[in-house]
Amino acid sequence: MEPVYFVGAGPGDPDLITVKGLALVEGADLLVYTGSLVNPDLVGRSRAPEKLDSHGMAFPEILARLEAAAREGKRVVRLHSGDPSLYGAMVEQIVALEDRGIPSVVVPGVSSLFAAAAALGTQLTLKGVSESLVVTRPAGETLEEDRIPGLSALGETLAIFLGGDRISDVVGRLRCPPETPAAVVYHASWGDERVVKGTVADIAGKAEEAGIRRTALIIVGKVVEPRASGFRRSHLYP
Ligand SMILES: C[S@@+](CC[C@H](N)C(=O)[O-])C[C@H]1O[C@@H](n2cnc3c(N)ncnc32)[C@H](O)[C@@H]1O
Repeated sequence: MEPVYFVGAGPGDPDLITVKGLALVEGADLLVYTGSLVNPDLVGRSRAPEKLDSHGMAFPEILARLEAAAREGKRVVRLHSGDPSLYGAMVEQIVALEDRGIPSVVVPGVSSLFAAAAALGTQLTLKGVSESLVVTRPAGETLEEDRIPGLSALGETLAIFLGGDRISDVVGRLRCPPETPAAVVYHASWGDERVVKGTVADIAGKAEEAGIRRTALIIVGKVVEPRASGFRRSHLYP
C-alpha cells in the first residue's frame, strides 16, 4: 500500500514548498489541506480530483477519509502549513494510521519561523549574540499553561507562535529588559506580509497600531536588529 504523505506546504508563498512536496501535491488523488493557513494558489496547482479542506472537520472524519482513500490505492497527500513538525496535528494522524496498518511518509516544509527570519533579513542564531533559539507558544484554547516568562529570562532568541491575537498579554509577561529588540511578523511570505519592529517596551502598541491581530510570529532578541547587536563574523570564511 502506498503511504499517506504528510507534506509541509511552506509559510504561504506557494513557491516556498519543496520540489518533492510540489510533485506530491500536483499528482495527488486526494489532497487534504488546512484551508485557514495553506495558500489557495498552492491547492490550485494540484490536479487532485478530490480536494478537502480540513478546517472545521472532526478528527475521526479526517482520518476516515485518509484511510478510505489509502485502502483504495489512491495517492493521499495531507498538506500542513509551514513545517508539519511545529504546532501541527500530524503525529496523532500518523499514529492512528499506523494502528490501522497504513504507513506514512513526512516531507518537511519551510516553517513560518524561517520566513519571518527572512522577512527580517536576519539570522535566528548569530555569532556573539545568540547561539540558541527557543521556540514556544502562549497558553490558549489548547494549552492550559505556558512557560513564556521563564524561557524569556534565558536571554536567547525567542520565537513565539500562536500569539498574534494576544500580543500585548504575551509581551507583558516577558522577563527580559524592556529595551530588548522585538518584532512581529504577520503573514510572512504572503503578498500582504507586514513586519513591525520595536522593543519589548513598545512592540505591542506598534503591532496594535498596524492592525495585526492573528497569523503572526513574535520574535524577541538582539538578532532582530543585527547591526546594533554587536555580532561577530563567523569563522567560516578567512
Ligand atoms: C498551527 S501553527 C502552524 C505553524 C506551522 N507548522 C509552521 O511551521 O509555520 C499556526 C501559527 O503559526 C504562525 N504562522 C503560520 N504561518 C505564518 C506566517 N505566514 N507568518 C507568520 N506567522 C505564521 C502563527 O503564529 C500561527 O498562529
